Amino acid sequence: MDFTASSANLLNIKADSLILMTGSQLQNSAKALDESLDGAISSLLKAGDFSGKASESTVMHIPGADGKRIILLGIDGAETAQQQIKVIKAGAAALLRTPAKKAVWVGEGLAEDNEWQAGIIARSIQAASYKYMPLPKRAAKKSPAQKLKSLTYWVPRKADNKAANAGLKYGAAVGNGMNAARQLGNLPANICTPNYLSDQAKALAKGQAKVTTTVLSEAQMAKLKMGSLLSVSAGSDEPGKLIVIKYQGRKQGAKPVVLVGKAVTFDTGGISLKPGGGMDEMKYDMCGGASVIGVINALIETQMPINVVAIIPAVENMPNGNATKPGDVVTSMSGQTIEVLNTDAEGRLILCDALTYADRFKPDTVIDIATLTGAVIGALGKETAGLLSNNDELAEGLLSSGLRSGDRAWRLPLYEEYDALLKSNFADIANIGGPQAGTITAACFLARFTKKYKWAHLDVAGTAWVSGAQKGSTGRPVPILMDYLRSKAK
Ligand code: BES
Ligand code: MN
Ligand code: ZN
Repeated sequence: MDFTASSANLLNIKADSLILMTGSQLQNSAKALDESLDGAISSLLKAGDFSGKASESTVMHIPGADGKRIILLGIDGAETAQQQIKVIKAGAAALLRTPAKKAVWVGEGLAEDNEWQAGIIARSIQAASYKYMPLPKRAAKKSPAQKLKSLTYWVPRKADNKAANAGLKYGAAVGNGMNAARQLGNLPANICTPNYLSDQAKALAKGQAKVTTTVLSEAQMAKLKMGSLLSVSAGSDEPGKLIVIKYQGRKQGAKPVVLVGKAVTFDTGGISLKPGGGMDEMKYDMCGGASVIGVINALIETQMPINVVAIIPAVENMPNGNATKPGDVVTSMSGQTIEVLNTDAEGRLILCDALTYADRFKPDTVIDIATLTGAVIGALGKETAGLLSNNDELAEGLLSSGLRSGDRAWRLPLYEEYDALLKSNFADIANIGGPQAGTITAACFLARFTKKYKWAHLDVAGTAWVSGAQKGSTGRPVPILMDYLRSKAK
């Protein structure tokens, strides 16, 4: 897909389709177009075929212009960023339902900020174009041919071209990063193993001057005394991996943001076996790691000037004869001992060693991303990610990135009274905190390992994929992470 901004005369841009955002009152370019079409748009409004309400869309053909179409996209009532993003997503979906090859999106009427709006448009078109590719053999090839080849984002003023182009480039990269994460998430666990993720991470670095990937084996992790992480992969025939991807967009010296992504390629629960119903969805328990890979993808595409280290602990949680048992005590890399009361609370067991390892990169900030608790779905549903942090400025930065990108999070507290629930009689800490406030006690567990740096945790168990007829990975939280990194890179 080709994205460019232009301020040329709207009717002179070569395209087969034009997306026009308008409410019931025609303004500026909508009015001008209506006049040049002898009132065709206003008569649709008058007849009630199109109301201008937010996200409504109607396709109309321009008489005598061989199949040229205008997609009217309603905007009335879309005031917040979230509502405007919804409108743009509806517009992208409407556009891709047509056989459009070359389209113009009139960047007027909805949001004031052209860079932001162009970014959301490019991202939404890329995301709407995603198709699952069933096998890794085919995934290695190019995605299936896309009908839509190019999109021109039209701005009324020439002076806005530069910002719009920057937005398009950024948004397309975010969309592609989301799609990369979705593809990994949707692959079944018999293909997408820790080893497969390692290979994908190595492939990312190929030919990229700014990127290096290293993968630690179980033997190397044992040398580092990652007893907690290894206690999770112990019950699986698939060897665990610690994937480290460095993206160096700035000169040496500059402290990196470290992103730690949980990648349990399948979570059976281990000896604390999960019930059978819907267990297939536990192939998505690597979506944290996949989102971090998606972010690195997008950083490469934008060549963003920032240093980022991605750490992905990748394991399968299975109950074989070597599996960790409830009550086993393991020693983490930090030296803290952990009583494993429930082997299904495995995410925190792999993250804690990865978070200890993060310290060697002298991080500016560490953000971990994990499908960590079912409880976050009880608290926030499928709309909003859980955010917990030991630093207010970082938490606020992420919350505003969530609002700007439409990939929202909500903060929960890390009060010491919750931490007290992790008391163990046989180790420094237990890996579960009882039936209440599960998202918070999970984060309190992680907080014991993140005292040396500014840290935030995103629990994306509700947002990383959708269930039911539309079952599939969403590519979240790539947008919020990219927005946060972009604001730091500026
Ligand atoms: N991967 C799950 C969390 C999860 C559950 C995500 C359902 C999405 C849907 C995690 O490893 C887990 O099993 N957590 C347990 C923790 C409990 C044993 C303290 C949970 O949430 O039930
Ligand atoms: Mn689990
Ligand atoms: Zn899990």
